[in-house]
Formats: sequence, C-alpha cells, structure tokens
Amino acid sequence: MSIRLPILSGGSPPEHPNGGGGDRLVDSYGRTIRDLRLSLTDRCNFRCTYCMEPDVRFKRKVDLLTDTEFVRLVHICAGFGIRRVRLTGGEPTLHPTLPELIADISAVGLDDLSMTTNGSRATPEDMRTWKAAGLRRLTFSLDTLREDRFASITRSKTSVATVLRAIGDAVASGLTPVKVNVVVVRGFNDDEIEDLAAMARDFDVDMRFIEYMPLDSGHQWEMNKVVPAGEILERIERRFPLTSRGRERMETPAASFVFADDGPGRIGVIASVTRPFCGACSRLRITADGKVVPCLFSHDEWDLRGLLRGGVDDDQIAVALAGAVWSKTAGHRIRHDDFRQPDRPMSAIGG
Ligand code: 5AD
Ligand code: SF4
Repeated sequence: MSIRLPILSGGSPPEHPNGGGGDRLVDSYGRTIRDLRLSLTDRCNFRCTYCMEPDVRFKRKVDLLTDTEFVRLVHICAGFGIRRVRLTGGEPTLHPTLPELIADISAVGLDDLSMTTNGSRATPEDMRTWKAAGLRRLTFSLDTLREDRFASITRSKTSVATVLRAIGDAVASGLTPVKVNVVVVRGFNDDEIEDLAAMARDFDVDMRFIEYMPLDSGHQWEMNKVVPAGEILERIERRFPLTSRGRERMETPAASFVFADDGPGRIGVIASVTRPFCGACSRLRITADGKVVPCLFSHDEWDLRGLLRGGVDDDQIAVALAGAVWSKTAGHRIRHDDFRQPDRPMSAIGG
C-alpha cells in the first residue's frame, strides 16, 4: 500500500513513518497500532448509568456505516498489519446482520476477532452461528450479581440470571477465553468485588475489574468513586490468594492473575485511572458512523464515512487513517487540572 503524507489540521507533522510508504500505522510517539475496536452500532437495549442517559438519542440508520463499508475499513486496517479486531457497540448484537458481518470481517484474514456484549440477547444458537462465522472470543459486561442493583445500573428488564446463563453458554460454545468486564464504582458495587472474583472460579472465566473512567454521559464521575486497582486486588487476595501472570503482551492493559491454588479462572485488573497504560497503547477506535477516535479521551474525530461515500480509493482512506493515528495524544490526563471530559459518551465509542 503506498501512503502519502496525510494532511493534518494545524500543520503537517515532520517526517513520519506513515508518510514513508510503510505498512504499519505508527503514531507521533512511536506507538504501533495493532488493535482495532469497531463499533457496529451506537444503540443499546440497556442504559447503564455510567455509560448512557435514559433519553439518549441514537444516530439515524443512514448515518451508520453499511456492512460493506465496515468490511472495507477492516481490509484497509489489515493492510496496515492490524490483525486483531474487537466488535463493540453500543450493543453489537443489535446489529441486524451480525452473522454475515462477522463472516465478512473474518474473511479479511485476522489473528483475533472478539466481541463485547451485555449478554442479554445471546442464545447458545447465536453463539454457535457467530463461532462458525469466525468469531473467536466473547467478552461480557457485568457489574453486579444482585438483581436489584443490576436493574438500577442497567435500567433494563434483563435479569442477572440471563447474563450468567449467556456467560456459561459462551464457555460451553468455545468462544474462549471468555472475559467479564466489571466497572467498579465506589459506593455502588465495590462491596461485591470478592463475589464477582469468585465467578472466575465458578465459570472458568477471566474476571476483569476496571477502574471507573470519566466517560459517562451524565458527567457523574468523581475521583472518589474510583476504586484503585491496588485496592481491588488487595480485597480479592484476602479471599483468594493470587499468583501474577504479568501481562500477556506489553500493550495489554490488564495485569493478569491466576489463583494460587491452581483453581480455574483468572483475575485481571485494569488501572485505567490510577496507572494509565497509554504509553503502550496499540488501539484504534472506529465508531459506528465511521469516525476515527484515536483515544477514548480524544476531543477530535476524523471522518471516514464522507470519504467512503465520496468515491475515493482505498489509498486515500488509508492516508486519512494514518493522519488520524498520527494525531493520537500521548495519553489521557484524567488526574490533571486541565482534564476536560469528552462530550462523546462511552456508548458512542464502544470501549
Ligand atoms: N469506565 C470504565 N469502563 C467503562 N465501560 C463502560 N463505561 C465505562 C466507564 N465509564 C466498560 C464496560 C464495557 C467496556 C466496553 O467498557 O464494562 O464492558
Ligand atoms: Fe449498553 Fe454497554 Fe453502555 Fe451498558 S455499558 S449502556 S450495556 S453499551
């Protein structure tokens, strides 16, 4: 793929690898992008308090990328060596032609294809279909085991039991290793850390505890609602002694642990706020309406939809992508005085 220098607002960068006809996407801090998070829809059947307002307004269907456009973007990314793709949302299972889309994305030729879901709609048959289409792994979001809390966090009628069943089904259908994301919010679900950790053993899954980040559309985030990963670990260790596995890859945000008694399951803690891992970030996000979001906390977006629909060739889209990646900032500044929360909530980016 031949890449020309991207045109950036605010002046072009100095000589950089993306401009030299390279086959990698490198940002201005030397980080290589290897992971794509593709949001298939901004819609969700939940309205998690830390993610979406109850009266959220979703994008018009015509503004969302078509399957052909999604696949074309994955192709272009693969040309840059991006071989790990995670499908996100909103809730990706709401995408109307998900099995076909999974098959087409998988056919691009990837090393890993995973999806994050709230687990409310996935039947064992769906999972078999997704697996046959090329999906490798499923990640669930589950923040509480208590029905009353689940209802108040998700503002949905789905029960915890439904999600637990789906998690068990995912393990049984081989969409493994299955991961379960828990956003820990002090005063809300932090008294369940130990019980949620026990799920790792009961289901043989990877329980990942994530520090609460200021990405909620309601702007309710406060530093005192963040439970530091160190504190989460200490509490789990008091119930279950753990052995560190380090990090699978340098760029993996989760510090990973197994149980010292060799019991099934794993524990991960993601210190997104207290110990940001931005320096090793290898991610690129594309929203369901075709915007490149270089970082969860970016204020700028780069439109690809206009290019996709404007009849340009893949090289020109690649140039725009390279430019967006070049603009990736060094890291978030959550704990700095100058931090300004982006207007776009997590649901519009897909995590
Ligand atoms: N802080 C941390 N994690 C979040 N997620 C959603 N909103 C937040 C937030 N404000 C997580 C969910 C989901 C993943 C995509 O992002 O757990 O699993
Ligand atoms: Fe939906 Fe996930 Fe956001 Fe909850 S966190 S509202 S399940 S997209």
